[in-house]
Amino acid sequence: MATVENIDPRKSGGRGRAAPGTPIGGGIEKSRLPLAEAWHLPGYIYESPELFALEKDKIYMKDWLAVARAEEIAAPGDFMTFEIVGEPIVVSRHKDGQLYAYYNSCAHRGVAVAAGRGNAAKFTCPYHAWTYDLSGKLLGAGFMDNVEGFDPETCRLRPVKLDVWEGWVFVNFDERAAPLAEFVAEFAGAFGRFGQGRFKLTGKMESTFDCNWKLINENFVDLYHFQTLHPTTLVNWPKPGSYPWTPMRHGGYATFYENNMPVLDSLRPLGPAPWLPDEIKAKPMFGGAGFLTPNFTTFVRPYSIAQIIVWPLGPNRTHLCQYITVPENYFDLAPDLMDRVKELHELMTIITEEDRPMIESLQKRVGTRGFKPGRLSTGEFLVHHYINDYLERMFGA
Ligand code: FES
Ligand SMILES: [Fe+2]
Repeated sequence: MATVENIDPRKSGGRGRAAPGTPIGGGIEKSRLPLAEAWHLPGYIYESPELFALEKDKIYMKDWLAVARAEEIAAPGDFMTFEIVGEPIVVSRHKDGQLYAYYNSCAHRGVAVAAGRGNAAKFTCPYHAWTYDLSGKLLGAGFMDNVEGFDPETCRLRPVKLDVWEGWVFVNFDERAAPLAEFVAEFAGAFGRFGQGRFKLTGKMESTFDCNWKLINENFVDLYHFQTLHPTTLVNWPKPGSYPWTPMRHGGYATFYENNMPVLDSLRPLGPAPWLPDEIKAKPMFGGAGFLTPNFTTFVRPYSIAQIIVWPLGPNRTHLCQYITVPENYFDLAPDLMDRVKELHELMTIITEEDRPMIESLQKRVGTRGFKPGRLSTGEFLVHHYINDYLERMFGA
């Protein structure tokens, strides 16, 4: 069993710190107490390569993962490549109009058959020139005619499950995974009414952080820091004590509120998305936020939906994709749409850059001998919810 190494015994003693040689999962008991008694997690939770490998097995290789907007792969031949926690895949649209996902690993010896993104009629492996169509099926392979038992009809790039919810392309590495509709059902119960399938992308901002992926997820549900760190960028936000929220499975949640977000003033004259329910259309300051395991954070408004997806690159490195979408009718209504959303795009980056020094500083500390987890504030109720569901999922009840 993997154990926690290099843990200073002086830092153990019931404060959530694991003693040397403790199995992965040690030292977490005090984080599982009720919020008023709870401590933050031991440092190794955010930096252990062994735990990172376990997270990949238990979470990222099991859950449905949103990798792209369908509109990013709209035309036959469009494709995008991804490395999902080290697993290389292609998502493409075949000439039959269907989306497919498969490993980016040639069926001959495993070389990557596609790179980056683009539009292609077929993929040709650069090593021995086996060719594949955009559904991943083998089209041709030289000098394979007399190879016993080789069936070109069934030979293909190994498929990955794919489905679409509200314009989001999800993939799943687990062949036995329950359908996507089941996976998103609870989240869809809260956010499906926004009909995000009819929102279209105005921008996608990407950046990489020197920190563990969970620290970013925690940061997004940490209302406790809003007033300190974002006094001018997240104005008028509900205070932690007055935050109505609904917990969901695996650390998910949904919350809805009304507050003014001045950066949306340029979009308000275009009206709320026409398909929204009347009770939302009647509230121009309406907003909501939510989280879908393991990496999908949403902020909804009648005028725009922002989605942030967190991709673990390693125990200490995480890639962030921020998508801004607006109602599809805005593209006809406003020739100056890109000017109207410019400030909103910039704000998303400014907020994450305000967060960056805190999260990266925290990451640097969790591996040091001087680090000792502290108490949770009652303002960190969503962090408590998130880490407890994470612990339950990783280590059981
Ligand atoms: S590895 Fe692709 S054709 Fe040989
Ligand atoms: Fe923040």
